This record gives sequence, structure tokens and C-alpha cells, in this order.
Amino acid sequence: MFKKILYPTDFSEEAKKVLEYLKVLKDTSEEVVVLHVIDRVVVEAYKDAFAWAGMNIKFETDKLNRKLVEKAEEKIGDIVKYLREKGFKVKYLIRIGSPWEEILKVADCEKVSIIVLGSHGCGKLGCELEKLIGSTAENVIRHSKFPVMVVK
Ligand SMILES: Nc1ncnc2c1ncn2[C@@H]1O[C@H](COP(=O)(O)OP(=O)(O)OP(=O)(O)O)[C@@H](O)[C@H]1O
Ligand SMILES: [Mg+2]
Repeated sequence: MFKKILYPTDFSEEAKKVLEYLKVLKDTSEEVVVLHVIDRVVVEAYKDAFAWAGMNIKFETDKLNRKLVEKAEEKIGDIVKYLREKGFKVKYLIRIGSPWEEILKVADCEKVSIIVLGSHGCGKLGCELEKLIGSTAENVIRHSKFPVMVVK
């Protein structure tokens, strides 16, 4: 029924919990698309700092993006390995942008059957409030045309 699952992860413990539920969905699914989005807000904050320090913004931003992608590839590699061992066909994607918007764009492009994500994630820096649900999860639920499963 849920042949192709989109599993977006920010590599948080909350997102890791989702893996247990993917195993449960195994009988009805074939493929998992693992997606990590490097938050554009983070990159923009660095850009401001580079500008403020009088550095070459384009050069430093390109270097930063390469580093962030490299780090994400390392982390996503472990997840891909784990899911392959569980018998899934797995593909991974790393994007830079707004997490919820990229999640929905990938869902569309890949024509997924379901999006499975955590109710919370790493949280935004300086946000100490306990929320019912994170903003990425909320926006995905609000705007998705595909079924969404949220793991609390
Ligand atoms: N950058 C990201 N890339 C891919 N998936 C993400 C990303 N951020 C969040 N997710 C997915 O969305 C789930 C919920 O995260 P969300 O960002 O909504 O919570 P939060 O970080 O606690 O809240 P907020 O970001 O609003 O402070 C995560 O468990 C993960 O599955
Ligand atoms: Mg978040």
C-alpha cells in the first residue's frame, strides 16, 4: 500500500525513532527515500557573518555548503546502510533550502505514497518552549497532498 516512503530526517533522536516504524511498514513497502535538508536559514546566518567579517562571501559559502553536505552524507550513510540491511531499496537525497518546502517538493518529484517523520526534531536554536509539534512537521501536515505519518 505504501510502496514508496519518504523519510525526512534532521538526524535528531526524534527522527531516529521513526526508523522503528519504517520496519513495521516493511511488509507493504518497497522503497525508502531518505532526505536531509540543510536549512537555508543556517547558511544565511553564516553568510551574514562572512560579510560582517569582510570575507569573500561566495567562496566561504561554497566551502561551507560543501562541508555541510559532506557531514550530512556521513550521517545519512549509516541510515541507508541500516535500511538496506532491513531489506529496503533505499535512495538518499540532500538538499539546501526550507526543510518543509523541500520535503514537499521531493514528495512530489518522487511520487511517494507516504511521508513518515518525527513530531519533533533538533529544535531551533534558542527556542526553549515545549511545543506540541515542530514547525517542519506542522507545515508538512498542513500542505502535503500525500498521507503523512507522524511519530510522536
Ligand atoms: N532539516 C530537515 N531535513 C529533513 N527532515 C527534517 C528536517 N527538520 C525536521 N525534519 C523532520 O521533521 C521532523 C520534525 O521536526 P521539526 O523541525 O518539526 O521539529 P523541531 O525541530 O522540534 O521544531 P522547530 O524546527 O520548529 O524548532 C523531524 O523528526 C524530521 O523527521
Ligand atoms: Mg526543526
